[in-house]
Amino acid sequence: MPKKIISVVSGKGGVGKSTLAVNIATLLAKAGASTVLIDADIYNPCVFFHLGLSPQSAGLQELLAGESTLDEVLPIHPASGLRCVSSSISPYGKIRFERLKKVVDMLEYEFIIIDCPPGFSELIKEAVAVSTSVFVMMTPDMPSCTAALKLVSFMRNHGRGGRLPNMVYFLNRVTNAPYEIHPREMEGLFTARLGAVIPEDPNVPKSISAKTPLVLFSPYCPFSRALVDFTEIMLRDRDSKFDISKPAKYTPAIFVDEMGREAEPAKREGLLARIARFLRDLFT
Ligand SMILES: Nc1ncnc2c1ncn2[C@@H]1O[C@H](COP(=O)(O)OP(=O)(O)OP(=O)(O)O)[C@@H](O)[C@H]1O
Ligand SMILES: [Mg+2]
Repeated sequence: MPKKIISVVSGKGGVGKSTLAVNIATLLAKAGASTVLIDADIYNPCVFFHLGLSPQSAGLQELLAGESTLDEVLPIHPASGLRCVSSSISPYGKIRFERLKKVVDMLEYEFIIIDCPPGFSELIKEAVAVSTSVFVMMTPDMPSCTAALKLVSFMRNHGRGGRLPNMVYFLNRVTNAPYEIHPREMEGLFTARLGAVIPEDPNVPKSISAKTPLVLFSPYCPFSRALVDFTEIMLRDRDSKFDISKPAKYTPAIFVDEMGREAEPAKREGLLARIARFLRDLFT
């Protein structure tokens, strides 16, 4: 199998990259594909919290510096079989991002997922240069969307000879509120189909607090269902060009009331009900 190296990036922070990376990697590993997840967010590593693994004293920084071997930094997530390279919690000096290719070359896995920090940096340049695909995470608002557009142009300017790898765009925390940018508008802006339209889902913070990836914690919740559909494409198209020619399904958001409890969505009134109400109003 050819190696698929996927960087998960975003222009703006806090849009759900790590949650996406952890859950896609868990689904791939659970399906039997050899998968490793690299937490490349060296200043703010969090993948270990999601997976419930204890923080390592050695991680990506030591690998880049050539101070640790793979055996020392590759714990296994027991419930899925996913391997994970964390960013270590120890203090660090200059980080040799230019050696990322060496690290990736050492990893003999079919899927290598790199959870990147937000924004534009040396690490992003190196990560994009070694990747076969880039997953761009966005939320349906202007700040996130314009930051993603800027990031794509940054990657194009600093990538290999101005070429971009296979790009897949994800829209997260969608509630379908009228002020949100619609998924089809996003597709127009990026002239690409979205890989998945992921709803706002209160199970996400619950699963993080339970230290269990959401796809294992709640496999049928809206977030998990959106990712299962996309991961099936990744497993089916094993040539690293994930075929997303069909529109991404939209799994509706879970509605929560002001106390954060799950609530029934407000029902849209059908045409007949509206006519009946109009007649009732007319004669009363
Ligand atoms: N679909 C969702 N529904 C509800 N909450 C979500 C969803 N996706 C992400 N979150 C919440 O958003 C927060 C940020 O998510 P996450 O850490 O994955 O983002 P990030 O892009 O990796 O952030 P950073 O840029 O800091 O690395 C988390 O607290 C998570 O619980
Ligand atoms: Mg993150």
